[in-house]
Amino acid sequence: MRNLYFTLSAIIIIIVGCRPGEDYSFKPGARWPDNNEVHINAHGGGIIYHDGKYYWFGQHMVEGEKGNSAWVGVHCYSSGDLYQWKDEGIALRVEEEIASEITAGCLLERPKVIFNRNTEKFVMWFHLERKDLGYKDARSGVAVSDRITGPYTYVRSERPDKGNWPVNVGEFHKANEFAGQEIQFTGGDDLPVYCDSLNILGRDHNDGQMARDMNFFVDDDGKAYHVYASEENSTLHISLLSEDYLSHSGKYTRAFICRYMEAPVIFKRDGKYYFIGSGCTGWHPNAARYAVADSIFGPWTEMGNPCTGPDSALTFHSQSTCVLKVAGKEDAFIFMADRWTPENAIDGRYIWLPVIFDGDRINLKWFDEWDLGLFDQLRFRTQ
Ligand code: DGJ
Repeated sequence: MRNLYFTLSAIIIIIVGCRPGEDYSFKPGARWPDNNEVHINAHGGGIIYHDGKYYWFGQHMVEGEKGNSAWVGVHCYSSGDLYQWKDEGIALRVEEEIASEITAGCLLERPKVIFNRNTEKFVMWFHLERKDLGYKDARSGVAVSDRITGPYTYVRSERPDKGNWPVNVGEFHKANEFAGQEIQFTGGDDLPVYCDSLNILGRDHNDGQMARDMNFFVDDDGKAYHVYASEENSTLHISLLSEDYLSHSGKYTRAFICRYMEAPVIFKRDGKYYFIGSGCTGWHPNAARYAVADSIFGPWTEMGNPCTGPDSALTFHSQSTCVLKVAGKEDAFIFMADRWTPENAIDGRYIWLPVIFDGDRINLKWFDEWDLGLFDQLRFRTQ
């Protein structure tokens, strides 16, 4: 009788607690319906936790190949549990005026939102290529809002760190002489390791540094850092923002010199900084790389490919975009990546996997389906 009572209660809890179609697990690579049963449209995204809720911002893609350009803007979703997402609409809209830097058809990629505790503003940064310039423009755009879900007001774009030398500048860079001819960027792993001697850093010193794939990290002391693929994608820069997060402070470092990294992500665990990124092969996946440091300005120690098992050489057919610390759960970090579908951009899928630590080492392995309870099991196993 007691058993029957418990079984019936469990059934009632399941029926009442879950609405039809609701799913309380992550299924990497599957379609992910929002509250309107529409596949989530927030590619190259990032998640911020604010006042008890998660907010996911990403590129709104449209159908077909042209969908990789920005025809709509930055989409925002909210969630209390990370499984179910509510469509909060377009947080930043591209503009109709042809003269606007964010006119429809520009490339507006990898948007990220950070919250400034002093100004109480939400600040959105993104990689911007003004329309019809391909990927040559390599700028960073910034927009701001008083409300997390927007609307965000576009402020401006720039090439960061104009007129400033990085803390680890070499004397030869200061000659400002660009020793190379136009660099033919071919992609792949066989890229010129001698690239530093070309002095792309010096070439761009006066006009600002190229900034393509990018991300942000806000440290415990409230300082925010912009990490961006610079110097024709050959080298990453990690740059301290101004106190209001709306510009660069002028203090930055070069990291992973001539390692040709994209899709950078920085996060912190137990006082150590972790980096995950990819190589440069356009929309095609390649092997992820990770690194560890005691200070965000380095030195960074490369640790190899964090992925293991089948398809680990292709990051499970995806490319990193964010590592999210799960609120209220000890040692729970989620690796978020994009499985791009450039032929039909809107159909891109999301790969979310648990970050499994062994000391400093990271292991990203495939799960067809998993949920947040996995973190408790992992912790239990290592205790
Ligand atoms: C790889 C980058 O990570 C993406 O954000 C996008 O810029 C594609 N390259 C374009 O080929």
